[in-house]
Amino acid sequence: MGLSLKGLSKSYSNIQKNQSLEVLHSLDLDVETGSFVSLIGPSGCGKSTICNLLAGIEIPDSGEILLDGEAIQGTSGNFGYMPQKDLLLPWRTLIDNVLIGCEILHREKRKAQVEAKEWLNQFGLSPFSEYYPHQLSGGMRQRGALLRTILFGKKTLLLDEPFGALDALTRQEMQRWLLSIWNRTRHTVLLITHDIDEAILLSDKVIVLSQRPTRIIHEFEIPFPHPRDPDELLLSSVALDFKRQLLHLLIP
Ligand SMILES: Nc1ncnc2c1ncn2[C@@H]1O[C@H](COP(=O)(O)OP(=O)(O)O)[C@@H](O)[C@H]1O
Ligand SMILES: [Mg+2]
Repeated sequence: MGLSLKGLSKSYSNIQKNQSLEVLHSLDLDVETGSFVSLIGPSGCGKSTICNLLAGIEIPDSGEILLDGEAIQGTSGNFGYMPQKDLLLPWRTLIDNVLIGCEILHREKRKAQVEAKEWLNQFGLSPFSEYYPHQLSGGMRQRGALLRTILFGKKTLLLDEPFGALDALTRQEMQRWLLSIWNRTRHTVLLITHDIDEAILLSDKVIVLSQRPTRIIHEFEIPFPHPRDPDELLLSSVALDFKRQLLHLLIP
């Protein structure tokens, strides 16, 4: 059970140039239920395209997307999706931002508010729930965006470079934080990242993608048990060996 991409192909047409750009060519990919899988690959290889196909924003030219055995390509609402440029709405407070999903899904507001408040507390954001996005730090905004994604209530999350725009230290802080959240929730996660340490620290499996049309170059099973100690893990010789191999594949 879980998520399976089977023979997924996608090209974009460029009408001005009368050309077609082949992004995915018969891609197969599996994410087991409850596992944390990272996709890492060169810029422009098709990572966000994969997310958009999963989210039903784009439709594949051919192939299937199976979620627990059911074909879902072209349908939306199956995942909690945090797109690459996920911005909180500037005119809404933090709590009203995280409650958007519940509004869209027409959940009972009072119940949703209670749930959101519990989560804000767990995310260390309670004191800031009435703040507007411009009053929050970058890390807080990203935590808010992730909380909004979780509150969609789906068991599988698609996270497209959630920490890509943050400075290096904040990013490390956020990775550690996401790890601790995941330990509690155990969502199935497909994370897009270009950060090798992030991939090793968080994932059960790291999938390395090639240039366009993208294919899987290599899959690394990351065998460290959970819960993980970030500092110890990242400095271990096993992790450093993964890092060396990943660097070699990504920057040959
Ligand atoms: N809607 C679109 N129309 C045309 N070309 C697109 C569209 N979306 C993405 N592309 C192109 O497809 C390629 C893959 O994009 P993307 O999936 O965003 O890459 P990544 O997320 O790996 O950086 C890029 O060359 C991009 O310019
Ligand atoms: Mg992208």
